[in-house]
Amino acid sequence: MRKNIVAGNWKMNTTVPEGVALAKEVNEALKANKANCDVVICVPFTHLCPVAAEIDQTVLGLGAENCADHKSGAYTGEVSAPMVASTGAKYVILGHSERRQYYGETSETLREKVALALENGLKPIFCIGEVLEERENGTYNDVVRRQVEEGLFNLSAEDFGKIILAYEPVWAIGTGKTATADQAEDMHAFIRGVIAEKYGKEVADNTSILYGGSCKPSNAAELFAKPDVDGGLIGGASLKCADFMGIVSAF
Ligand code: PGA
Repeated sequence: MRKNIVAGNWKMNTTVPEGVALAKEVNEALKANKANCDVVICVPFTHLCPVAAEIDQTVLGLGAENCADHKSGAYTGEVSAPMVASTGAKYVILGHSERRQYYGETSETLREKVALALENGLKPIFCIGEVLEERENGTYNDVVRRQVEEGLFNLSAEDFGKIILAYEPVWAIGTGKTATADQAEDMHAFIRGVIAEKYGKEVADNTSILYGGSCKPSNAAELFAKPDVDGGLIGGASLKCADFMGIVSAF
């Protein structure tokens, strides 16, 4: 059966010493209070090696927030999937709405990134979600279906089984405006149906679908209680150990 997962997305926050301190704090908290779900932190590239050296990845998984769409070569400033994997990280967030919106990531580049991540043994946390206008004009199911189909449906069933999905309505990210638990459940059930149409019910039932967007200790339990919500991708609230642990303990 699918896993429940709480993953932090630190975005472009913390210096290396601050990040290492936060990672150690979360790691210690998880050793003291065993989580009832998998817990992961996705951190800036600069933080991967020093954080990997300080945490026990059997209690706290480590991931990057992006990787390049090429394996190696003349791509100044990019960080490849083999580089991320060589730090000891096991996860990578791909297709976050901030990457799609501000850095022009398309389904085409994301297919390359997903393939490279998988080739290098990284587990993609693949993000999808509609913007406010699409929520309001009622096209949100179509938008999310297209993101899933275009970004992932080139994969074999075996490879698709390695993907973690994160539904993040863009209007809820960093805005304090959370989707209601019912809105999240409706979308998650819809996504699972789309996966089932393509890969069958077993693959769909085994896919973890996380919710992201202003998830916090006060609303996590209600969201995670929904049958198709298998955890969260946590931005702002992952930057404070107590808040992050408050969300983890919602399971
Ligand atoms: P937020 O971000 O929790 O700060 O809304 C979530 C995300 O963008 O992954």
